Amino acid sequence: MSIHCAPTHQLQGESVQTTELTRYYAQRAQEYDRIYAKPERQSDLRWLEQRSSELCREKRILEIACGTGYWTQFLCRQATHITAIDFNQEVLDIARNRDYGDQSVQFVRDDAYTLEQVEGKFDAAFVGFWWSHVPLCRIHEFLQALHSKLQPGAKVWLLDNRYVDGSSTPISRIGTAGNSYQQRPLDDGSEYEVLKNFPTPEALRQQLAGHTDSVDVLERTYFWLAEYQLA
Ligand SMILES: C[S@@+](CC[C@H](N)C(=O)[O-])C[C@H]1O[C@@H](n2cnc3c(N)ncnc32)[C@H](O)[C@@H]1O
Repeated sequence: MSIHCAPTHQLQGESVQTTELTRYYAQRAQEYDRIYAKPERQSDLRWLEQRSSELCREKRILEIACGTGYWTQFLCRQATHITAIDFNQEVLDIARNRDYGDQSVQFVRDDAYTLEQVEGKFDAAFVGFWWSHVPLCRIHEFLQALHSKLQPGAKVWLLDNRYVDGSSTPISRIGTAGNSYQQRPLDDGSEYEVLKNFPTPEALRQQLAGHTDSVDVLERTYFWLAEYQLA
């Protein structure tokens, strides 16, 4: 099913969500990495850390919404260079303080929907736990921005969560535009409504149709990893 964006005035709900999303992650910066300590996810995480490092071998990578740099530390191990962008200074400050050895890693504050601050072209992109936060009606906009920064034949990897009862935050509602939402509390007592989609492999293929002919989707228990290549 293709989802079309409503006229701007009807989109207010989604735009507000995007702003709320950025505020939520700025506020969550110091507690963010706890998500990687969930015991039941450790085996999947070790596998993905190893796999993502191998995938980036000898590639110039553009990393979207890098957050605290958790994945950057694995991507950079075999890559020739990483440019990692995020909208929030709060998470970039944490990411910049990680140890990347002698690897070539650059952090840039930018909006994933425009990527105006990103210079040069890349031969691969890594999009970790960002796809699920893109409203369905902004997927095309995001992909246009992303692909404009990639060389022909570039690889794109999308890594994100599968919904697992008892491990995932419950979905609180499905919006009229088809996006799902969660209520998420933070340590300071605040609570945010966060747009978080959990596409099936088939839905993902449909969302990417028009941008690529073929998408490989690998599912672990808690995560999915999709790969496609630009023409
Ligand atoms: C779920 S976190 C993922 C962080 C990191 N990739 C990871 O997997 O650990 C989503 C990230 O998106 C960032 N973000 C929110 N809105 C953004 C935007 N418009 N452009 C770029 N990054 C954005 C947040 O600051 C946050 O770091």
